Amino acid sequence: MGRVIAITSGKGGVGKTTFSANLGVGLSRRGKKTVLVDMDMGLRNVDVMLGMETAVVNHLGDYFEGGLDWEDCLTTDERYQGLSVLAAAQNLDPSLITEESFSYLIGELKEAFDIVVIDAPAGIGSYFRLAISQADEGIVVVHTAVPSVRDADKVLHILEESGIGRRFILVNELRFSLMKNKAIMTPQDISEILGAELVGVIPYDIEAILACNDGRALTGTASPAGKALERIADRVCGMAVPLPPFRRLRGGLFHK
Ligand SMILES: Nc1ncnc2c1ncn2[C@@H]1O[C@H](COP(=O)(O)OP(=O)(O)OP(=O)(O)O)[C@@H](O)[C@H]1O
Ligand SMILES: [Mg+2]
Repeated sequence: MGRVIAITSGKGGVGKTTFSANLGVGLSRRGKKTVLVDMDMGLRNVDVMLGMETAVVNHLGDYFEGGLDWEDCLTTDERYQGLSVLAAAQNLDPSLITEESFSYLIGELKEAFDIVVIDAPAGIGSYFRLAISQADEGIVVVHTAVPSVRDADKVLHILEESGIGRRFILVNELRFSLMKNKAIMTPQDISEILGAELVGVIPYDIEAILACNDGRALTGTASPAGKALERIADRVCGMAVPLPPFRRLRGGLFHK
């Protein structure tokens, strides 16, 4: 039975899709048959992030509205062996997806794949609720800025209320210079404030923006973010890869 990991955030634009797509690539390269489910309906970013948008023939709208089999809605790419994408629909009435029908789909995917990675939309709306409804694990992507941490706190509580026992945070776009100057919280500070274990830290990296714009994977590149993503994929696969020992701040930035 496959694991279902929901990638969430609360605040938008913090790197959920970048992380979901690259985690999917990293897991599939580690021999885990992985499917990426794009639940950010109306926007459809996962396939674009991996340069697969022209390959998408059918998507979740064709499954939920069009009655196609889920197998016929998968998109694959020869660059990403072992990875499939279930692309989001551009227009889909949320009322057409019930928790039961979503649960049925995820159940089928769990039978067919080792890992199901769900890219949730920003916010805590209906598609977010669906996206987390079948998850065994939740990773909340967070920036070091206070509003992002506050929103992550809210989302972690919702994950807990939904019965998701394994909850982690991922600090993205960390700027080391700001951290050294004590201008921002450290990943350890954030982990402590939120009471959630860190699954990893990805530095701010121009290469992340270039890879996204070019539609290619960042995982496996020699860039700092690419290397961080490799370490995270190892951790998600159960390997003990230590985090760098970031120093803790004394001040309570979060409470300002
Ligand atoms: N580590 C990073 N360093 C620099 N830029 C990054 C990093 N991670 C992501 N980005 C950039 O941030 C932007 C937003 O990323 P992304 O689309 O993954 O966020 P998101 O949380 O999925 O957004 P949304 O809430 O709209 O779905 C993209 O341009 C991406 O390239
Ligand atoms: Mg996104």
